[in-house]
Amino acid sequence: MSGTLRISTQCSSLYLVEDRWGQAKKVLIYNSEPLSDIPNKQVCSSYSLCYEQKIKSLMTSNKMKAIIATGYGSPDVLKFTETSKPTPKENEVLVKIVTSAATTADTMMRTGKPYFARLILGIKKPKHGIPGTGFSGVVEGVGKQVTNFKPGDRVFGETTLGFSANAEYLTISEKGVILHMPDNMDFSEAASFCDGHLTSFNFLREIGKVKAGDKVLINGASGALGTSAVQIAKHLGAKVTAVCSGKNIGLIMSLGADEVLNYQRVDFTQSDEKYDCIYDTVGKSSFGQCKKILSRDGVYLSPVLSFPLLINMLFSAFTNKKAKFQATGMYADDILRTMLDEVVEIYKSGKLKTIIDRQFPLEKLAEAHRYIDSGHKKGNVIIVNA
Ligand SMILES: NC(=O)c1ccc[n+]([C@@H]2O[C@H](COP(=O)([O-])OP(=O)(O)OC[C@H]3O[C@@H](n4cnc5c(N)ncnc54)[C@H](OP(=O)(O)O)[C@@H]3O)[C@@H](O)[C@H]2O)c1
Repeated sequence: MSGTLRISTQCSSLYLVEDRWGQAKKVLIYNSEPLSDIPNKQVCSSYSLCYEQKIKSLMTSNKMKAIIATGYGSPDVLKFTETSKPTPKENEVLVKIVTSAATTADTMMRTGKPYFARLILGIKKPKHGIPGTGFSGVVEGVGKQVTNFKPGDRVFGETTLGFSANAEYLTISEKGVILHMPDNMDFSEAASFCDGHLTSFNFLREIGKVKAGDKVLINGASGALGTSAVQIAKHLGAKVTAVCSGKNIGLIMSLGADEVLNYQRVDFTQSDEKYDCIYDTVGKSSFGQCKKILSRDGVYLSPVLSFPLLINMLFSAFTNKKAKFQATGMYADDILRTMLDEVVEIYKSGKLKTIIDRQFPLEKLAEAHRYIDSGHKKGNVIIVNA
């Protein structure tokens, strides 16, 4: 493979080159100094010279595999296809994705419901064709202004309104929600970390202000948010009552719940107990039903957006007992990143397990969504790239 390789664009480790037939190729140079060694920075006289400069990988295509959402609707709108591989801007990191998350929030965005969410997502079809927000992978290239990441780094994070995670590659600003993966974290845990752990940390610690000694009830304890919430509430020093079905009681006890109620047998809203915080992760109850089992200044939290909940939020602003909702992904990136840093510290201390349910290959994302739509997943669903 000989021929002149002309360097046409550059970031610190990824070069777009043309061979002597004018065909574009991407070349990865892991060491950033070689270019300064090349006599003429624009022209690399032969492929072998580039090779000497520690080129580790030659990619012959700038295409990647990805899922595209062709519209709003059933999982059938999710098509496996080939599309252009993104190129990092000067402040961006190019990540080769190892695993991405498929979440209940993703399935809601796929349907475009509630309809008012389309004001943000896109009126007729998703503005961002590639779905998915949670990712983990390996940095493949960085823009020249990037200082925190380098090729080969194991990273994970959340693209929030940038989506694009259910693909082979994504680009993300180094100031986005992206962190280095702790050594003891695997790619599957990392891809789903933000959906469950970051969201539940935000709800319990930031919004619910849960503190040591509080009595907290978590409904939907076996979901992605619920399995995290049980552990985070315990970490915050709360006494935790978790609500799930009979088949999941063992799992939820193993996560540290003090008491578990089987929703198939008891209606927790009829309890004689009073709770300082009720976190209904699956939105199956209402503030009205829960008010009587909230303590005097108790708070009702739900991550599931509904019109009645918004009304409850408005009116409860003037009463002791409050109803609260927050779209965690709408926070500014630096706020999310700082919060994520804190949650990673809990993880590192060994107090946060990530429950992984089924794993699907990228091309089967529609099947993963069908499974999530059943409403009975346990923890997190992961999409694995080949
Ligand atoms: N606002 C935000 O920032 C934010 C962020 C992320 C996600 N979300 C939203 O949060 C919600 C929860 O997501 P998730 O992924 O944690 O949920 P999920 O995993 O899809 O929830 C499924 C779990 O809910 C349990 N469940 C079903 N019916 C139940 C009932 N009547 N009572 C108690 N548990 C029941 C199921 O257990 P069984 O199989 O035993 O029935 C299953 O384990 C979604 O609506 C998502 O869109 C919001």
